[in-house]
Amino acid sequence: MSHFPLSEIDPSWLAMLKSRLRDYDFQEEAMASRLDIPNIYTLKLLDIPLYLHRLRELSPENILIRLFFLEDELEAKAIEQVFTPPELEILQKINLLQINEATQRIKSQVKIYPYQGYYFASDVQFFPEEKVKDAELVYYIGSDSIDLASSTVRREVYSTLDLCTGTGIQAILAAKHSQKVTGVDINPRAVNFARFNALLNQVDNVSFVGGYLYEPVGDERFDLILANPPFVPSPYEGEDEVFYRDGGKKGLDILGEIAAGLPHHLKEEGYCQIITLFARTSDHSQEEFLKYWLNNGPYQTSLLLLDTYSIYQIASSNTFTLALEKDYHTYKKEITRWIESFVNQGIEAIDYTLINVLPGHAFSFTRWK
Ligand SMILES: C[S@@+](CC[C@H](N)C(=O)[O-])C[C@H]1O[C@@H](n2cnc3c(N)ncnc32)[C@H](O)[C@@H]1O
Repeated sequence: MSHFPLSEIDPSWLAMLKSRLRDYDFQEEAMASRLDIPNIYTLKLLDIPLYLHRLRELSPENILIRLFFLEDELEAKAIEQVFTPPELEILQKINLLQINEATQRIKSQVKIYPYQGYYFASDVQFFPEEKVKDAELVYYIGSDSIDLASSTVRREVYSTLDLCTGTGIQAILAAKHSQKVTGVDINPRAVNFARFNALLNQVDNVSFVGGYLYEPVGDERFDLILANPPFVPSPYEGEDEVFYRDGGKKGLDILGEIAAGLPHHLKEEGYCQIITLFARTSDHSQEEFLKYWLNNGPYQTSLLLLDTYSIYQIASSNTFTLALEKDYHTYKKEITRWIESFVNQGIEAIDYTLINVLPGHAFSFTRWK
């Protein structure tokens, strides 16, 4: 289900929204300082009431953070400090804001993240609308998104492919140093959000297409291939899978397909960068996995280790909200299911890594700590 009525949007409406965000300091350092947190990409659900208390004074700056970042509802009167009534109508028309009929308060239908002068709309993170299926939620900007964005080698290139584009953040950032960029996502809702974000950031050398990994690009080759795939090892299969999160039982399904496609889609002088969880399993080493996916081809692969998590940490971080949304017993059953699935898959620990792949003379593998 798409969300933004893209063909009805007048660019001046987005310019208005952007200038208001800029005027009232909606940017990462200022927001972190108001919220008194080290960085805005690791917001904690249980701390939302604390953040709201810190931002209790309804200044224009705090209103924007409460509305577009903390998923709060506010009275129209308060929001009119930032947007005039006709502007509020426009923001409702483009599905950015919505009136809660029960409370008559206004809430945002999306979350907005600032990053280095850009703005990215995603689905709301903590309290999504029930009518959007969990499976189709558009991934927020997480620390993985930012880690890939800040590690991307920003060399001038002709063409970039962003696989698993989500909000389009990697594609839109790559537009600055690429002649043309293609972003692909399997989730039609993500394609709609990514197109909206390109309009919002006035970037016109990016095209977003729906489809499965390389399928929409035929046999085209690229100078730069970026990916932040669904990488969580998860017991969910089929209909229950969450597009943005689940990467099969070991978490390696999509990663393996991306690596296996590189010989067909990377130019000779090209390079690929992938941010991902990479399970350590009892059957094969990470080097063996990469070698197998790349068919022992002439590629220099390197794996930069950013962090390591235990199976318990990954099981807990993906299930703890059930204790709030449902009840303790549902949470206990589900976390146990995750842990047992990890054990059955021979997963010993889970590394958080940045993988780099460059064509070379023979297969090589380097692990950087
Ligand atoms: C972790 S999110 C990353 C979003 C964004 N690139 C970022 O860095 O924030 C993964 C995205 O992959 C998409 N996805 C999952 N499976 C896919 C597939 N087989 N082909 C294309 N996209 C896929 C999901 O819909 C989701 O938007």
